[in-house]
Amino acid sequence: SMNMDHSAHMGTTAVAPEGSITTKPADITTQQQILTGKEITLTARKAHLEIEKGKYLPVWTFNGSVPGPQIEVTQGDTVTVHLKNELDVPVSIHFHGVVLPVAMDGVPGVTQDAVQPGGTFTYTFKTLHAGTYWYHSHQDSLNQIGKGLYGTFIVKKKNAEPVETDRTLVLDEWNDPNTHAPDREANTAALSSNMGMYNIYTINGRSGSYIEPVRVQQGDRVRLRFVNAGNMTQLLYINHAAYRVVSTDGEDINRPQTLQRGLLRIAPGERYDVEFIAAEPGVQLIGAVGDSDFARSMRIPVVTETADTTLSDTQVNDQVNSQQNKLTTQMVAKWPELDLTRYGKAAPSQFNLQQSYDRDYRMTLNMGVSNGQTAYTINGQAYPKADNMTVKTGDTVKITMTNESVNEDHPMHLHGHIFQVLSKNGKPLSGSPLWKDTLNVRPGETYVVALKAANPGIWMFHCHELHHATMGMMIDLVYE
Ligand code: C2O
Ligand code: CU
Repeated sequence: SMNMDHSAHMGTTAVAPEGSITTKPADITTQQQILTGKEITLTARKAHLEIEKGKYLPVWTFNGSVPGPQIEVTQGDTVTVHLKNELDVPVSIHFHGVVLPVAMDGVPGVTQDAVQPGGTFTYTFKTLHAGTYWYHSHQDSLNQIGKGLYGTFIVKKKNAEPVETDRTLVLDEWNDPNTHAPDREANTAALSSNMGMYNIYTINGRSGSYIEPVRVQQGDRVRLRFVNAGNMTQLLYINHAAYRVVSTDGEDINRPQTLQRGLLRIAPGERYDVEFIAAEPGVQLIGAVGDSDFARSMRIPVVTETADTTLSDTQVNDQVNSQQNKLTTQMVAKWPELDLTRYGKAAPSQFNLQQSYDRDYRMTLNMGVSNGQTAYTINGQAYPKADNMTVKTGDTVKITMTNESVNEDHPMHLHGHIFQVLSKNGKPLSGSPLWKDTLNVRPGETYVVALKAANPGIWMFHCHELHHATMGMMIDLVYE
């Protein structure tokens, strides 16, 4: 029988973080695997991540790496994932953004029992949408994702245009009690006091000069898939003369425009796929906006080489440093930020603002107080003491989300569905029909979204800043 403890899956365990060490541990993480089979085993176990050269952080992993293996399948494949738990705490796997049957959604207490130490669970589902997804534990999520229990999940199209380089880049941030926390003002994208505790920023589990550059050949078509696995919204600059953001949350953007040196804001749980042709030889930098060491440590050099020019790691680093010195906050502040609500070419869309909907819900997102404690609330209620949103199979559902917080983003993630964004701050979208599973509602903003209720079950709808989810910003979408 299922353990219906509704609070366990987001968890409230306060765990004092262990600090990094500098002596080489025996259980060092391995290189991230790419798993292309249709039957896969993910084993949750402990290890130490070399986050900077000679600095090892205790982590929890799938198959010994952070991020865990990248699972690559083709659209339409049925994939089977066996989870084995070798940790001493219960875990689960949620496939973030994937539309699958509710029994495979990986939410302990709601869709399955948590997988106990020594236990196993098998997930199996058909991949309906092609795109960039990720998976993570949904047990004690704030703590377990924070410790590294996540990986990437790529569903390729059957007849996709080939690209020479296809890389997934996972953003994250960590709390190492041995390192000084960044000054709150230091990173313009740092959002609240919750963030003060994070003091290492990583891409694919590595920080600063320890991040492996993306090396490509001149003329290559390159696809970079950004995933934000952390709790901080990151604002990245892309110092590239011509690129396109081709997809978000696994859904393609219709005829995206070419952009030039701009900013890309990526909230927790979101994904953005960026494409370009590597035209200019040398280093083109993508990095976090900010002048602090912490912001500067989150950057990825794209190194374009020709048949007769290669760059050593030292040369790459020198170029990165000199670019970073020029690309100050003040300078990139003038660069345009991608506005997805105005981006891409308009095309027929499934929903519009004028049509009538079977359900019409409103969600006001804010900080509040519940039982004398700080809470993050939806319509003034903190989970699990929150009213469900109920639907019947086949319903069209409209949801209006307003963020009333003064300075905190609320990236709202719905399980098991994708939704179309219809308007932002009262203005209908003018570009490509925008489909998301994680929508960043920034302070003062209001979005109207719509979806078709076509996947019966009980589905979480929560903020992916997991401190907020843990402190109540969560609701259930329940099929009657
Ligand atoms: Cu990526 Cu309910 O979460
Ligand atoms: Cu939030």
